[in-house]
Amino acid sequence: MSNDIYDPNFVAGVFDRCSDSYRNWSAVASFGLVRAWRRACVKGLTLPKDTQASGVDLMAGTGEAWPHLLAEFPRIANVTAVDISPGMHKHAMSRLHKSRDDRITHLCANMLTTDLPTASADFAISTFGLKTFNAQQHQVFADQLCRILKPGAPFSLIEATDPVDWFLRPVYRFYLDGVLPQVERFFLNGAQDFTMIGEYTRNFGKGETVLTALKSAGLNVETTYYVSGSAVRFSGTKPN
Ligand SMILES: C[S@@+](CC[C@H](N)C(=O)[O-])C[C@H]1O[C@@H](n2cnc3c(N)ncnc32)[C@H](O)[C@@H]1O
Repeated sequence: MSNDIYDPNFVAGVFDRCSDSYRNWSAVASFGLVRAWRRACVKGLTLPKDTQASGVDLMAGTGEAWPHLLAEFPRIANVTAVDISPGMHKHAMSRLHKSRDDRITHLCANMLTTDLPTASADFAISTFGLKTFNAQQHQVFADQLCRILKPGAPFSLIEATDPVDWFLRPVYRFYLDGVLPQVERFFLNGAQDFTMIGEYTRNFGKGETVLTALKSAGLNVETTYYVSGSAVRFSGTKPN
């Protein structure tokens, strides 16, 4: 197997192995911040409250964003959940979301190559799915996003960043690179998969390559940073 950490097969392997404990680990390791950030992502969608739209959740994982999405827009008709990891889909279906099953369509596919129909989505969200792409893949992602959205449709994407200008960054990095790997080794039988998040986040930086890619794909986009630059939201629309 490839050791390129941006090879989609490598990434799928990491998340397949994480899928059992992903939900709890991500909530605990982030002190619950990921939940607030998923909510912030959903709030970035400029849709009417009573919309009956159908859209996509890109790099959906175990569907942690759906409770927030369906609470904010209770009449949403359907969400197509795109994720490359069969393990993450399996956990989304079996544990979390039985009551939402009729409104979720699962698509186990690589977002960078999926042939989801052009101009088919009324909206798109993505929570924490951007850091496992490199700069060139960000451009492919942005082009795919623009292709899949209907003209005028909104999107909102959120990702954890490396807060390079924050005075507490050394503490934050020590936590990500020093503490979490030890905790994972101890509690998850020596696994080192969640530890990868540290490297992905460091490489992702402040997410500049996503912003450049979204603009160059032709999307209207605004950025919002959270908690001294520990997360960034890209929200906007596809022009009409
Ligand atoms: C950090 S998880 C985020 C999951 C979820 N959205 C959340 O808020 O917790 C990143 C997800 O992106 C998926 N992913 C990574 N690369 C992908 C690709 N090329 N195509 C589709 N999904 C991908 C992984 O399988 C994983 O489930």
